[in-house]
Amino acid sequence: SANSMWGGRFAAGPDAIMEAINASIGFDRRLYAQDIRGSRAHAAMLAATGIIEGSDAEAIGKGLLTVLSEIEAGDFAFRTDLEDIHMNVEARLKEIIGEPAGRLHTGRSRNDQVATDFRLWVRDQCDAAIDGLTALIRAALSQAEAGADWVMPGFTHLQTAQPVTWGHHMMAYVEMFGRDLSRFQDARRRMNESPLGAAALAGTGYPIDRDMTAAALDFDRPMANSLDAVSDRDFALEFLAASSICAVHLSRLAEELVIWSSAQFRFVSMSDKWSTGSSIMPQKRNPDAAELIRAKIGRILGATVALFTVMKGLPLAYSKDMQEDKEQVFDAADTLMLALAAMTGMLSDLTANRDRLEAAASSGFSTATDLADWLVRELGLPFRDAHHVTGSLVALAEGRGIDLPDLTLDDMTGVHAGITQDVFSVLGVHNSVASRQSYGGTAPAQVRAQIARWKEILA
Ligand code: ARG
Repeated sequence: SANSMWGGRFAAGPDAIMEAINASIGFDRRLYAQDIRGSRAHAAMLAATGIIEGSDAEAIGKGLLTVLSEIEAGDFAFRTDLEDIHMNVEARLKEIIGEPAGRLHTGRSRNDQVATDFRLWVRDQCDAAIDGLTALIRAALSQAEAGADWVMPGFTHLQTAQPVTWGHHMMAYVEMFGRDLSRFQDARRRMNESPLGAAALAGTGYPIDRDMTAAALDFDRPMANSLDAVSDRDFALEFLAASSICAVHLSRLAEELVIWSSAQFRFVSMSDKWSTGSSIMPQKRNPDAAELIRAKIGRILGATVALFTVMKGLPLAYSKDMQEDKEQVFDAADTLMLALAAMTGMLSDLTANRDRLEAAASSGFSTATDLADWLVRELGLPFRDAHHVTGSLVALAEGRGIDLPDLTLDDMTGVHAGITQDVFSVLGVHNSVASRQSYGGTAPAQVRAQIARWKEILA
């Protein structure tokens, strides 16, 4: 039989396959709370503007709360033939309150309804991401504080470069996650306008009050153009883009934890809570959570590419293509929140191996740049010449299987006659990091300043 919501001009019902491809209730039921909230705001506005009777609006408002409690109690029979959450809720409302239910959809369309519901949902996810990132930043900040002056090797090309501190490395991620957080704040601010009242696309002839519904739904204002309001999903794209960038950051930290927890590095030990064993190799402690966080970017970026592809080239205004927005965003949001929580837990329970970090920092000629800088500062050599002299000293040490501080003064003067005993004072890793006092540098004093700045931001 024809659809009770729009079947007026239809004699026959849809093919079963048509129903299967068309229905979104299997996933958009997640919007039930937003849908009911939006409908309650709309009904109250219809009464306040005299478009429907106050008594009808009251019946609608009460009935919608009954529907809400049925859904929350798991007592609601979702029907595929009713396509989506909007029609499921309205049909049930009609069963409960009868005729007034039919007045709810006055001056509204599913087009502005779904745009409103989805904006509310994505807005909540921005808040969840902001909360998740705040917790993660706190965890990284604690690590940084504990090891503000613990020396570790800094890498470029994953080759030993210069000594840095553990705190400095942790604070690098704090900065990245801080930008992620601000991206979600920006996106939230931009998306916080109400599409409700745009109706199908052109607005409506009923004397609706869009400011009233916008305020009731905690939007800053109504969207200014009704066509735009029902056509765009840029708020969802922006959420996905911010999620993707955040997932890239999570993935890089996860990769470092995988490397650092290996037997070859032993920079960190992960707690039992965040490790798994092997069913065959008894010695194993696998960093599965880190590996999975490293991988989750695949899903999140996949969702991002999928929705960009759906939206590209769509003519205004609403097209059913846009129903494909939800599963992507749902999955990306679920994945991101889980990855954020897992990274926060892992980082909170992580033990950095201070001695091992320092030993690693002291090998691999990590203070060669300090030596070159000494030649520039004390002997007045041009940096390029100092670089060359230092390179020769590294080659000498490497050939003997020792590190730079193990060379004798005679070894040094053999390469450059002007070198004095004083050079040894710059070859230690602690001197090296302490000397890097430039703003944002790795000197513990600088790192502590970064930590203090973030504590103030979070306070
Ligand atoms: N389920 C639809 C969606 O998610 C709701 C909007 C339907 N509008 C329409 N004109 N068919 O996009």
